[in-house]
Amino acid sequence: MSKKRLITSALPYVNNEPHLGNIIGCVLSADCYARYCRSAGHETLYVCGTDEYGTATETKATQEGMSPREICDKYHAIHAKIYQYFNISFDAFGRTSNPEHTEIVQAIYKEVEESGYLIEKDSEQCYCLKCDKFLADRLVEGKCPKCDSDQARGDQCDSCDTLLTPTELKEPKCSVCASTPEVRSTRHLYLDLPKISDQLERYQEKAIEEGYWPNNAKTTTQSWMKRGLEPRAITRDLKWGVPVPREGYESKVFYVWFDAPIGYISITKRAFPENWQHWWKDPDNTELYQFMAKDNIPFHSVIFPATQLAATSNWTKVHHLSSTEYLNYEDTRFSKRNNTGVFGTDVINSGIHPDLWRFYLLAVRPERQDTAFSWEDFFTQANKNFINNIGNLVNRALTFCNKFFEGKVPEGEFSNEHSEFINEATGFQTEITGHFEKVSLKEALRLTLKLSQAGNVFFDHSQPWKAIKENPAHAAATISISVHLVRDLAILLQPFMPETSERIFKMLNLEVQTWSALGDFKSLCGRQINNPEVLYQKLDEKLIEKLKEKFCGEKKDEPWSNIELKVGKIIAIENHPTAEHLYVETVDLGEEKPRTICSGLVKFCEKDDLLNKHVVVAANLSPAELSGTLSEGMILGVSKKKNFEVIDCQDAVPGTLLLKEDEQAAQKPQGIDIGTFKKAALRVVDGSVCINGEALFAGDKQIKTSLVMNGKIS
Ligand code: 2FM
Ligand code: ZN
Repeated sequence: MSKKRLITSALPYVNNEPHLGNIIGCVLSADCYARYCRSAGHETLYVCGTDEYGTATETKATQEGMSPREICDKYHAIHAKIYQYFNISFDAFGRTSNPEHTEIVQAIYKEVEESGYLIEKDSEQCYCLKCDKFLADRLVEGKCPKCDSDQARGDQCDSCDTLLTPTELKEPKCSVCASTPEVRSTRHLYLDLPKISDQLERYQEKAIEEGYWPNNAKTTTQSWMKRGLEPRAITRDLKWGVPVPREGYESKVFYVWFDAPIGYISITKRAFPENWQHWWKDPDNTELYQFMAKDNIPFHSVIFPATQLAATSNWTKVHHLSSTEYLNYEDTRFSKRNNTGVFGTDVINSGIHPDLWRFYLLAVRPERQDTAFSWEDFFTQANKNFINNIGNLVNRALTFCNKFFEGKVPEGEFSNEHSEFINEATGFQTEITGHFEKVSLKEALRLTLKLSQAGNVFFDHSQPWKAIKENPAHAAATISISVHLVRDLAILLQPFMPETSERIFKMLNLEVQTWSALGDFKSLCGRQINNPEVLYQKLDEKLIEKLKEKFCGEKKDEPWSNIELKVGKIIAIENHPTAEHLYVETVDLGEEKPRTICSGLVKFCEKDDLLNKHVVVAANLSPAELSGTLSEGMILGVSKKKNFEVIDCQDAVPGTLLLKEDEQAAQKPQGIDIGTFKKAALRVVDGSVCINGEALFAGDKQIKTSLVMNGKIS
């Protein structure tokens, strides 16, 4: 009896929209394998969900002005929708913020505590008084103690590549509010990895061998072990996470990489409250297949199994680790930040059938080395390797069957030529199954296409359109074999292109068949089939250039990238001669001449409060006449309910450009209209002045409000 197959794909962080690389790296690969396993008759369960806790979620929540819970709800739905579009056949797609998760994480923690694999240690960490929290290593910035670069972060200096701890930084600053953090002692729990190391290594050696791990998983794991393991902190000073059930830890939560892998278990439990232990507490009869990108390897091959081994229950541990390399986008990387590459929602909006996306992504799956998505390659492969190949075979086999045999699959007499082809085809099938068993999905797909190609060659050689006149029995045999082969292709394609496979079965007037039916070239004889329909129209190669341009990220033309914001000093102010709600200000923008600006601030501020103030000015709005006075800009403020505040840049020199953290000063268009300005997402989020969710700076100083902490800027 074969073992049950428990399949997981890495739980995506909830705070981002997945791109094609994420999709092929995890969920799509796991789905393809799970579909194969089900078809091949294995008891199968495929589990995934969103990874919701930790700093990343908290940060995103701040950026979007939402609570962590709201962020998780929003993005969980986005992920779910994208995977549904890709037809991912999860048996459970859950979330780590569910109560079952807390329950199991705490239970496993208790098991580890009980068996004595925890260490407690005090350490010095940076605490920001203003933000009122301990700062994650990355959130401390300062001067590198080695190379003096002032761009170092608390975990690492990118200039000299030194790994750092935050307390080593010179002139440390909180990256959120720029104040100087103090060093405070804090207590944390550590998993005693050195103590479990030998046991872990024995387990790994066995799994690597029996689960035929890919090379990257093997070498990464072995090099971690060779370097020697150190105790690893499993708690953090954060709010958004699983509470630590231990005295003195009331204000702490588990580190997200401690709780996330336990999500596989808790998600199973939530979906199958009666049955989850059948999967997770039955290691002798269960093979666990885990799909992920290569950066996740050590968490799944070292830390999670170490946790499981340290626990007292006998948990199901990874058997096969399927770790992909990276998928690049054209000749660069995917980047949401730069708008480069194709993301899940783009796929939904592409108008290209999800099965063609699946087909191409699985064909370029970065199985052993980095590969790249390219529009050109996508269209060529879809047109040549799929439509012209499989599409063509399905069409001609079924059309001939209808035309010459009234849609009844004929029997005919097998000649040598026929038997040889049957041998060739079954040879392919055995090989394809072998590749599936080793999770070589890409190779399995390549051979499926080759089988179809061989089918086309066979069809051409035996010329049924001629034979039908001279030797009808020969033609009948050719058509019969071809129709059976089409059925086999539908079976083989099912893991890759499930909907397409179903459509082929419909044309064959057949219920969906599974792996066990492969290689039979008789059972359909006498069956009435339907008329074939064209599987797909060819993708129009004329669109390639447009698509390349659309997703290349460079020429993005979003309103906010066009707005020029500058610090200005109000050097004179008076009431507008006719409009009583307006002031007329003279503002120094560091230019040759000060500008005249009209603003509707009368009902909010006194003149004296504004005089000499350094404010933010939208500096490239086309000049507009307001009640007879030409206004050459706009002073920005934020209001919420009754409160109003002019955005203040007291410390910045007039003329300073406001930029995002990593933005280069650039020539902005001369004049933009008010409509464009209004479209830009200029907001105050938790006291930070943000454009599109990213904080703005005048020089190295972040722009903050003091009264209105959230609201739209106008
Ligand atoms: O790298 C990531 O996207 C992580 N969220 C993966 C977690 S996998 C598992 F441990 F949950
Ligand atoms: Zn701070």
